[in-house]
Amino acid sequence: QGFEAAVAAGAKEVAVFASASESFSKSNINCTIEESLARYRDVTSAAKKHGIRIRGYVSCVVGCPVEGAVHPSKVAYVAKELYDMGCVEISLGDTIGVGTPGRVVPMLEAVMAVVPADKLAVHFHDTYGQALANILVSLQMGIGVVDSSVSGLGGCPYAKGATGNVATEDVVYMLHGLGIETNVDLGKLMDAGDYICKHLDRPSGSKTATALCRLTA
Ligand SMILES: *[C@@H]1O[C@H](CO)[C@@H](O)[C@H](O)[C@H]1NC(C)=O
Repeated sequence: QGFEAAVAAGAKEVAVFASASESFSKSNINCTIEESLARYRDVTSAAKKHGIRIRGYVSCVVGCPVEGAVHPSKVAYVAKELYDMGCVEISLGDTIGVGTPGRVVPMLEAVMAVVPADKLAVHFHDTYGQALANILVSLQMGIGVVDSSVSGLGGCPYAKGATGNVATEDVVYMLHGLGIETNVDLGKLMDAGDYICKHLDRPSGSKTATALCRLTA
């Protein structure tokens, strides 16, 4: 139903959200992992008929707020299912931000054994201050797509305590420091972050934005 409504509204791209953790799947989308995959097979086959690009998400790729540690083989299984059903890109999300490179590297190794690296994206939350370290190891392993949000906005109502996504400003600052071309204007990005933070009346979640603001003030 959601897909049909999206098509009617003119959507050119849709996304489906699976979880590597059984408990989180039940609390977040109210069904088991297998039930969610069965639904998404219907969505992806309909999307193919309409020529609509579909992105797959896997949540809880290192840890789950209910179950704790999630085994890399579970992540690899869900990622491969999404890939096989036709998702053009699979975004691997550390929903509660508990991962460190110590857990992220074996998780990526397991996933990359079954899904090509150029079909993968990473999605880190900075809850424990580990997002940039995790992004750096992901880049080193050949992942070229990184999700982020301006000023670190975001979170999840079913993942208590989970703060926002890694701030785009921080990711761009690191990438520029690595000499990686992003085509993103950091100044304009900061203007956008400033605008939304004033609008929401909350401080920026970006350390880079906070530091650069202080410099220019
Ligand atoms: C969750 O699923 C069960 C069984 O399919 C259903 O009875 C219930 O209403 C659902 N809960 C929500 C919040 O949608």
